[in-house]
Amino acid sequence: LDISVIGVPLDYGQSRRGVDMGPSAIRYAGAIKRLEAIGHTLKDEGDVQVSAVEHKDREATNLKNLEEVVQATSELANRVAEVVEKGNFPLVLGGDHSIAIGTIAGLSSKYKNLGVIWYDAHVDMNTAETSPSGNIHGMPLAVLMGRGHERLVNIYKDGQKVKPENIVIIGARSVDPGERILIKDLGMKVFTMHEIDRDGMTSVMKEAIAYLQSKNVDGVHLSLDLDGLDPLYTPGVGTPVPGGISYRESHLAMEMLEDSGMITSAEFVEVNPILDEKNKTADVAVGLMGSLFGEKLL
Ligand code: ARG
Ligand code: MN
Ligand code: MN
Ligand code: MN
Repeated sequence: LDISVIGVPLDYGQSRRGVDMGPSAIRYAGAIKRLEAIGHTLKDEGDVQVSAVEHKDREATNLKNLEEVVQATSELANRVAEVVEKGNFPLVLGGDHSIAIGTIAGLSSKYKNLGVIWYDAHVDMNTAETSPSGNIHGMPLAVLMGRGHERLVNIYKDGQKVKPENIVIIGARSVDPGERILIKDLGMKVFTMHEIDRDGMTSVMKEAIAYLQSKNVDGVHLSLDLDGLDPLYTPGVGTPVPGGISYRESHLAMEMLEDSGMITSAEFVEVNPILDEKNKTADVAVGLMGSLFGEKLL
């Protein structure tokens, strides 16, 4: 593959500083060399500009740092669109999960029936009305389905970027009341920790892959929040939730996605080196990238 790496040093989508250093931590953990060793061609496109100072002229809204998130995700969308238009595989490094608004908006320039795998402890489907925190990183999936603040919903182009039925959520174990209602109303496909424990990751991934194939998607984006894994393995995240996906299950999931041949873009988000133990979380992210991009032991 020709892989284009884009860093997004954004921490305005949540309340704990430090996740803006995620792209550096992931590069430092050897992402580029690791994927080159598999035989891919890597182009590091550098980082998206993120405003260094918070805007003062705030709109009356309970969305924290809306202006900064709109600015960064708009630029990211343009950059991702350029990458897919030249036929490269976009690999986006976060940054908090609000960046998915920009990544997936940019993908919509090429993919008209995009599938999304949302690997996360959370479902990130809050709106301004339902959010307990006002943190935009808890909202991207709602925004991408066309629900939420119009400035976010209309990034890159107006309205919905992904159909609810083209989304599969894996690893959920923390869902807010408003999110639960939306999941039920939209009939979304969610594999919570319960299904992973009961049926095993092999069965969950087989089902997830078959489900997306049945939707005739023209591409599948993997949005991987490192807090999807148990904090034992990925302690460097801002909103850890115990009882998560294991290291081995995650590698298996990545290998099954690689075998499926369906993944056309990916992002790894929420790596926060300040909260981490010796860059452990970035190391895990890079290991997972290895499996996703076809690293073989023998
Ligand atoms: N549901 C909570 C909220 O809306 C937590 C969201 C965490 N999201 C994340 N991408 N880590 O604030
Ligand atoms: Mn910052
Ligand atoms: Mn999460
Ligand atoms: Mn998330």
